[in-house]
Amino acid sequence: YRVAGEHRYDGILYLPSCPEYVVKKVRDEKLDFRRDDVIVATYPKSGTTWMQEIIWLIMNKVDTERAKSEHVLVRVPYLESTKVESPIEKLPTMKRPLVVKTHLRADLIMRQVSKNADSGPKVVVVMRNPKDVLVSYYYFYKACKSYDFKGSFDDFFRLYESDDLVYGDPLDYCQQWMTYKDNPNVLIIHYEDLKADLKGCIKRLSVFCQRDLSNDQIENLARHVSFDSMKKNPQTNFESFIAMRPHISPFIRKGIVGDWKNHLADKQNEMIDKRCESLHRLCGLSFRFL
Ligand code: PPS
Repeated sequence: YRVAGEHRYDGILYLPSCPEYVVKKVRDEKLDFRRDDVIVATYPKSGTTWMQEIIWLIMNKVDTERAKSEHVLVRVPYLESTKVESPIEKLPTMKRPLVVKTHLRADLIMRQVSKNADSGPKVVVVMRNPKDVLVSYYYFYKACKSYDFKGSFDDFFRLYESDDLVYGDPLDYCQQWMTYKDNPNVLIIHYEDLKADLKGCIKRLSVFCQRDLSNDQIENLARHVSFDSMKKNPQTNFESFIAMRPHISPFIRKGIVGDWKNHLADKQNEMIDKRCESLHRLCGLSFRFL
């Protein structure tokens, strides 16, 4: 199985919509990111869209009316994708406040972040336990036309084992970000924490983004980004995207912690547990699986 047009660069597999020159540009050039800009950085299926919506609202005075009138990918563009117009070419003229999403690795993104908290963009990283990430990614591979994956979950797991997933290995991705966990411009939030205490996370995120929110605004924001409202909202649910086939699997699918229990075989589960244990020892990375 291969994604049509996929290519590997520096060991990482990319979609054709993220060509080599874009990756090189992020790595080698100083892009026009500014102090107030926010980058939402994730491995795919970790809660990207959820965080895009949260950060956009924090940066835009919780304007839920505008959020309901414009697609999340227009408001929070996909940094490395050339499918729609890549924001990479337009950063100097883009309207502020600017929020972008990216799945590029920490070492690439951190080239754009100054160590000094007063300059350079802020980065909000969302991490999700790798078992649920793989399950969610599997359904996305099946539903998205550019992937058009027809195999079983076991087949998909084999792609993971042979490092043949687009954007590489989800645990390597998280491990790399752990290097920057104490950088003042970086905030790491876990999907499982958003699930357990959404309002508490919104508060932390608003402090990090240096935007004061009233209790009413926090309530309103939390309501707008609940699973049910994002699933209903055409600006966040991707139901009308021609690249998606929601009858195979909706983009906003289950939104739970622990769906891996319905998919992973014991061996697969053990393999990931082992890797997580060794990463925990190595860099303190830890996940909640339920
Ligand atoms: S992508 O393609 O990388 O941008 O996908 P991403 O947005 O990272 O991940 C999609 C998964 O996030 C779930 N999701 C949510 N969960 C809880 N609450 C809210 N509001 C929410 N919005 C999106 C979505 O359902 C996908 O997870 P699964 O496990 O497949 O349901």
